[in-house]
Amino acid sequence: MRPQPAPLSAWRPIAADRFLLGAAHYPEHVEESYWERDADRMVACGFNVVRLGEFAWHIFEPRQGTFDFDLFDRAIEVLARRGIDIIMCTPTATPPRWLTQAHPGVLRVDRRGRRARHGSRQHADTTSRVYREHSRRITRALAEHYRDDARVIGWQTDNELNTTVSESYSESTEAEFRRFLRARYSDIGALNRAWGTDFWSQRYDDFDQIDAPYHLAPSFANPTQVLDYHRFLAAATAAFQHDQVEILRATNPDWFIFHNLGQLQDIDFRGQFSTDLDFLGYDVYPFLRDEILRMGDPAQTQAFMADIFRGFTGNFIVPEQQSGIGSQPGFTTTTPEPGEMRRMALSSVAKGADGLMFFRWRPAHFGAEIYWNGILDHDDTPRRRFEEAKLFGRDISRIERALLGTSVRMDVAIAGSDFDNQEIHKTYPLAMPTPQNAGGVLHAYCYERGIACGFAHPEDDLARLKLFFVPHWLIWKDAWTTAAEEFVRGGGTLVIGARTGSRDANNHVIREASPGTSLGALCGVTVEEFGPLTPLGALGLAETIERAEGVVTLPTRPAESSRRIHTVEISGRSLPAAHAYEILQITAGAEVVGTWGARFAKGQPAITMRRLGAGRIVYVGTYLTPALIDALLEGPLAEVGIASLLPGCPKGVEASLREADGRRLLFLLNTHAVPATVTGVPVGTELLEAQPVSGGTLALGPYGCAVVQLS
Ligand code: GAL
Repeated sequence: MRPQPAPLSAWRPIAADRFLLGAAHYPEHVEESYWERDADRMVACGFNVVRLGEFAWHIFEPRQGTFDFDLFDRAIEVLARRGIDIIMCTPTATPPRWLTQAHPGVLRVDRRGRRARHGSRQHADTTSRVYREHSRRITRALAEHYRDDARVIGWQTDNELNTTVSESYSESTEAEFRRFLRARYSDIGALNRAWGTDFWSQRYDDFDQIDAPYHLAPSFANPTQVLDYHRFLAAATAAFQHDQVEILRATNPDWFIFHNLGQLQDIDFRGQFSTDLDFLGYDVYPFLRDEILRMGDPAQTQAFMADIFRGFTGNFIVPEQQSGIGSQPGFTTTTPEPGEMRRMALSSVAKGADGLMFFRWRPAHFGAEIYWNGILDHDDTPRRRFEEAKLFGRDISRIERALLGTSVRMDVAIAGSDFDNQEIHKTYPLAMPTPQNAGGVLHAYCYERGIACGFAHPEDDLARLKLFFVPHWLIWKDAWTTAAEEFVRGGGTLVIGARTGSRDANNHVIREASPGTSLGALCGVTVEEFGPLTPLGALGLAETIERAEGVVTLPTRPAESSRRIHTVEISGRSLPAAHAYEILQITAGAEVVGTWGARFAKGQPAITMRRLGAGRIVYVGTYLTPALIDALLEGPLAEVGIASLLPGCPKGVEASLREADGRRLLFLLNTHAVPATVTGVPVGTELLEAQPVSGGTLALGPYGCAVVQLS
């Protein structure tokens, strides 16, 4: 029987009795003469699973209603003979041409009115009722074919839903949007109130009058309409997946089901999308993600994204882990250096992966991804990536028993995984960072110092943390105040960032002073005045406006630097603040720990602290900067005891801890190409080389890895 998943939590391990290890594999891309050799080589790497079929609808159903599973059945047979199990995928990211030709209405329409064309992927509109019917049909056919096939152990739904695009403005999307609004509001008056349609004469008489919001057509769309459109897209994505899950579960309840996530757009991870699944999958492409996020360090980007991802539902699997260079016609990433592929895979494990498949077994010779390298090269010769895959297979065999069932230690958590809070920010960003990026400043601070840090939701078990930081969540629910207060009374430190709680679920600014009645009482402050701060290092006020033609950065205004109030004084030190200032007023029981440093705000409270029970609540009336974090942790928060997992860990060596029931695995991973020496390592056994650690010193080669089971 399939083990039942535990409730969602940032600390949930996967309910699995083995580490799923393998590769995404496309037997349909090579001649059959390759298959036996491929399977033998996979066995040499210690693989126990491959993922198949996510883009092969045209092979499974070459004509409507005519099914053909022969190619995959034969490929499965070759793999299964060597003990390799199969994860099948529903192939709905790429509907075949006969389908899009017969039903052009299933194609997405972009915001300029252009209908998607065949020849790419994710071209079908998952909100379309017609498309959903076809998705159910192909899912049912595949499920029935593999119902009693013990070699198929689980399923991936679709592929990276919403990664290329999540929006659509087709007729069917708009019809579904209206249906969603009708269900949400029942009567049009309620919608008018929620959307504030008395602004700019927007009032509606009927749901049928409502369009999907277009950005800048010609000016800014109603922010609540935009928020509801994204809520709708998330609900529609969950419903599309649910159709498939329902069929797969009814066909064989022993199958596990997951989805592989990429861009994380328009998905509510704490909702039905995740509760429908046994666990989530996250595709890890550190070089690509780093170029998108421009963090400048693929290892740090990988850690940041994995920590965010684990915050959604806990441990996860990696259905695709970058192996070599990555490219599509529009981009090319740099190359992982020798040893780095294995190090990246172990970093995923250190951050909560309980299964991992490399992308991809072999590179394609045709199509839009010929330069996404695989474990093998185009000439079918195993080289350094094959050797590293073998080494990683050996690593897993050595740590698997101690690893499974553990979760990743967090002393510090940043509030994450709340769909409404991430989306509401985007509807009216005030040129300020998203909550995720604002939280990234604290994450980077901890990453660089080896402090165990991640992301969690206010509804998680906060008692496991020392410090919980809420990075500017515009919506704050009263129920969270109760949980947060309990956390604080029990000894926790709650840090609330500027602007938290200043809007409600309808995206209206609240009618009380920020941060609202219940959170304000807990913090012991109200916000008296709020405004933006000059960007650090800029001469004056810089504005970034997204116009129809793209992002335009207006020139900074001439400096009148004396107008700036961007410093906060803590214990006589003058420290940079960022993005926003709030002038605070103490209401009850809080003390001032930082004051504004200049102009009209000079001397006014900027940061406060209220002691409560065994803990404390800090209200920060600005956005955290590294200097502010330092001053707080060394000053008023020194007693909280936030410390590195291993102070003797040099820069560039990642430290993380996975633990459960007295088992503690300390991962030490060298992210640099130069050797590193770690000192102060506690007594234990280094599992990858099966060596005792007693002298406290560990030498790591370039991209060297160690996993120490602490005694
Ligand atoms: C993922 C996707 C794969 C492949 C890979 C490399 O986002 O799921 O199908 O495209 O990226 O680009």
